[in-house]
Amino acid sequence: MRAGVFDSGVGGLTVVKSLLEHKLFSEIIYFGDTARVPYGVKDKNTIIRYSLEALEFFKNFDVDIMITACNSVSAYAIDELRNNAPFQISGVIEPGVMALKNRATSKDATILILGTRATIESKKYERLLKKDGFLNIESLSPSLFVPIVEEGLFEGTILETTIQHYFHDVKEPDFIILGCTHFPLIATAISRYFPNSTLIHSGDAIVEFLEEKHQMKERFTETELKLFATENPDGLKKIAKLWL
Ligand code: DGL
Repeated sequence: MRAGVFDSGVGGLTVVKSLLEHKLFSEIIYFGDTARVPYGVKDKNTIIRYSLEALEFFKNFDVDIMITACNSVSAYAIDELRNNAPFQISGVIEPGVMALKNRATSKDATILILGTRATIESKKYERLLKKDGFLNIESLSPSLFVPIVEEGLFEGTILETTIQHYFHDVKEPDFIILGCTHFPLIATAISRYFPNSTLIHSGDAIVEFLEEKHQMKERFTETELKLFATENPDGLKKIAKLWL
């Protein structure tokens, strides 16, 4: 079983980490559009265009499924990808909503969605959650989190100050959806600020989703990981070595 994993840059490696831990694939082809990251500040048509280009890249490989390990792509380009792909397509938003549903014991649960501007403006998480009866939803786009993660500042004063800046008037929610694949890397600091909130991580969510919805029960002893980037592939490989 082969997967193509697509992200705007390096953030999707947090999803790859979960896929590797659960040994769901014999091969993972990772494609990060590092030359054009971030996607989260771009408009819908641009995100769709870039995503369809990534789809063409994966057509060169014999993949069974393409996972868009980018919430911004999952927010805007899933239908276009599905309409043009010869293989299955999975985003991370439906899995995130499913993971929350699996954990919430009440529809009254309070939910904070964190994502890029594109993800939050698309209202995709919100729509799906409301359809499932969740009504206590707040959305926030802490844009500075992405460059902070890209800089590798996973702890320290800059991160703490930025968290304080975005969260100071937010009431501690029952659930926080990390609706950006960069955010799991600062999950420890987020949990320190909101110690009683349950965090929903796109990587764990996609694993649960593939097991439940795609009936993926097979486990592989080894996963071959191939990394590709539109710019500075050595940088991506270095980060992969550090994070994975
Ligand atoms: N990986 C992207 C996401 O999950 C965040 C970075 C970006 O803005 O491209 O939305």
